Amino acid sequence: MTADAVAIQVTGLSYSYPDGSKALQEVSFQVKRGERVGFVGANGAGKSTLLLHLNGILQGKGVTIVGMAVTKANLKSVRQKVGLVFQNPDDQLFCPTVFEDIAFGLRNLRIPEDEVGRRVRESLRTVGLEGFEKRSAFHLSVGQKKRIALATVLAMQCDILVLDEPTSNLDPRGRREIAALLEQLGGTQVIATHDLALVRKLCSRVIVLREGGIVADGEPRTILNDEAFLRAHDLS
Ligand SMILES: Nc1ncnc2c1ncn2[C@@H]1O[C@H](COP(=O)(O)OP(=O)(O)O)[C@@H](O)[C@H]1O
Ligand SMILES: [Mg+2]
Repeated sequence: MTADAVAIQVTGLSYSYPDGSKALQEVSFQVKRGERVGFVGANGAGKSTLLLHLNGILQGKGVTIVGMAVTKANLKSVRQKVGLVFQNPDDQLFCPTVFEDIAFGLRNLRIPEDEVGRRVRESLRTVGLEGFEKRSAFHLSVGQKKRIALATVLAMQCDILVLDEPTSNLDPRGRREIAALLEQLGGTQVIATHDLALVRKLCSRVIVLREGGIVADGEPRTILNDEAFLRAHDLS
């Protein structure tokens, strides 16, 4: 594969939290540009820890984004390539208004204010929340908060979208709406989730984590139809 066809390269990534819990052990995989990959695994398998390495919130050895190592020195460039949507929107939304929440990252990049306004409007339209600029995320439903959190990342126009449990705490209709939105957005997507139906619907590839290591990597229709395998890894 040519280097520029590779969106994410992770080679031998290990990580322990300061209290000594081993979260990732020798994790290696590659994600091609335009690929949509689902990461599944029981609670504590290491999904969120892995995602935090993709935009440099955690910095480990062996992570490159379109050929660029994820290091402190490259953090700004990495974050212009990789947008991370947290599982809990309250971790992403902290401003008095939705407008300011979405504008926050753009203003940090010193993007001119008229362009900021345009991007806020556009990203709200994309997530189906046109006109929510003056609202406060604090008072919105979980489903709406999740979509605003996604809008903050879409406004940054990153090539790679990384989502942690995008459908958790949503009702069936909310889950359908997020699935449709992610399908429509396209691009390179990494989705950590317990929602196997979402992976079946959207992903061409699934990676299964267990106790910080990869135990399967392949086509959802093969891996997710293996009932004995799913049970063995606490996925059903
Ligand atoms: N902030 C933290 N401090 C210490 N240990 C943590 C922290 N976050 C996660 N862990 C531990 O790291 C491992 C992986 O957790 P996590 O990445 O959250 O898994 P998942 O997202 O698959 O549920 C677990 O053993 C978890 O207890
Ligand atoms: Mg998690």
